[in-house]
Amino acid sequence: MKWWQTAVVYQIYPRSFQDSNGDGIGDLQGIISRLDYLEQLGINAIWLSPVYQSPNDDNGYDISDYEAIMEEFGTMADMDQLIQEADKRHIKIVMDLVVNHTSDEHRWFIEARKGKDNPYRDYYVWRDPVAGDVPNGLRSTFSGSAWEFDEESGQYYLHLFSKKQPDLNWENEQVRQEVWKMMNFWLEKGIGGFRLDVIDLVGKLPDQSITGNGPKLHEYLQEMNRNTFGNYDVMTVGETWGATPEIAKLYSDPKRDELSMVFQFEHIGLDQQPGKDKWDLQPLQVNELKQVLAKWQTSLGNEGWNSLFWNNHDLPRIVSRWGNDQQYHVESAKMFAILLHLMKGTPYIYQGEEIGMTNRPINDISEVADIESINMYAERLAAGYQKEEIIAFINAKGRDNARTPMQWDETENAGFTTGKPWLYVNDNYKKINVSQNLTDNNSIFNCYKTLIQLRKDNPIVVWGEFELVTDVPEPIFAYLRHHEGISWLVVANFGEVEQQLNVSNYTTYTKLLISNYSKIQTNLSELILQPYETFAVQL
Ligand code: GLC
Ligand code: CA
Repeated sequence: MKWWQTAVVYQIYPRSFQDSNGDGIGDLQGIISRLDYLEQLGINAIWLSPVYQSPNDDNGYDISDYEAIMEEFGTMADMDQLIQEADKRHIKIVMDLVVNHTSDEHRWFIEARKGKDNPYRDYYVWRDPVAGDVPNGLRSTFSGSAWEFDEESGQYYLHLFSKKQPDLNWENEQVRQEVWKMMNFWLEKGIGGFRLDVIDLVGKLPDQSITGNGPKLHEYLQEMNRNTFGNYDVMTVGETWGATPEIAKLYSDPKRDELSMVFQFEHIGLDQQPGKDKWDLQPLQVNELKQVLAKWQTSLGNEGWNSLFWNNHDLPRIVSRWGNDQQYHVESAKMFAILLHLMKGTPYIYQGEEIGMTNRPINDISEVADIESINMYAERLAAGYQKEEIIAFINAKGRDNARTPMQWDETENAGFTTGKPWLYVNDNYKKINVSQNLTDNNSIFNCYKTLIQLRKDNPIVVWGEFELVTDVPEPIFAYLRHHEGISWLVVANFGEVEQQLNVSNYTTYTKLLISNYSKIQTNLSELILQPYETFAVQL
């Protein structure tokens, strides 16, 4: 058994969590000042989005010095203090590790750019033009070609993200050595592990237009494990957009000595038109969601470990996305919480999710800070889309939805800052905030807190076998957990109309564990579920 198998992780996006000095930007002292709140919630680890030195082209995911702290966030002394203060509260700090690329302002790239003979040249991926044009058709996730021309040397460099995020050349052994050294610098500080940013890209073969899941990917990860965290009791979670259960086992089978677990995104893509971009939406089919999540719950077995999440800093807020953030705000936010937290795996809570924070709609592109949305807007405008249409894409899927400041209380700027926040605060902060949640026993926060406690108290939540209940109408997502002769039933109604549950096999239960409506009938087979009604019972 590993500590991270029983843990609940909380993701902090430092820029938007808590400002301590009135400059409108969240910082490390701000996080320290809120650790008691996180202890109260009951989480065991914090995944800290990048806090390293960065010109912030992609909010810290473009790192110019891995061993320095971004000035706006504080100092290395603040970072050490955060690790210590968290430790006092039994909370580990998991660092974001962004090593597919650096910033173009990293000293390696500044050197590399100086010319073909520079010793750092081969730290990055350079190619000659082909027929006076880009080497091939590889595209950047942030729109346009993934190749940027460098006038000086007449070559192109690869950037799978922004131009200011040149890709590192992992085939160069020296690059890998530098990465291991840097990781050890952090491990020696006593951190709790790493979240590995777009790690499935590091084995890329750009000449063959292969980006994800390249042939040497797992070799590199085993080398990483041996040279860095293999000897530490830490957790590692890889961001792997292209993972299937078979691929996830390659990463997380304990026998292979790679990572603890990965983030898979199959469920996240279900409201996207097949073969199209993230912006091209289609309605979610609940049956598909059930199939996908059930597949992940059952297929890893002992050869892997799941992560469980609805949200992160790249995704819209789940309560706005697949729930109802108006009429059934509390009910649907709790539905997603209960459904996910009673599954098998390590749950992740993204800041503000525990109080039901919602998307923040915009009317004009000038309100957007995120490079991905800004670039897409320009690209699609040029391609002939209407402005209104593109704004609707951004309101549905734009990353700023998750990045608005944390809503702490009813005071100006939601208690996030005394200055001008770097990104607008959601208008609904007077209704949706931490202080309100803490005073209300039936709040979303208290639902999350109860779920975390249920996980701590009941091995069935961590270890139980998962079984999907299939004889229920489509809008109902129901599953069982079984462990040492005990069974739990979890039922969620995704619909906005009443639904008869109709389970024939389980008519009674012995204990109500959690629910989002005040009471439920004792006879389960006749039970009528209200909109978003969700509960868990011991049979
Ligand atoms: C990951 C991060 C995202 C970032 C990208 C490039 O997907 O989660 O925020 O923009 O990698 O580093
Ligand atoms: Ca600040």
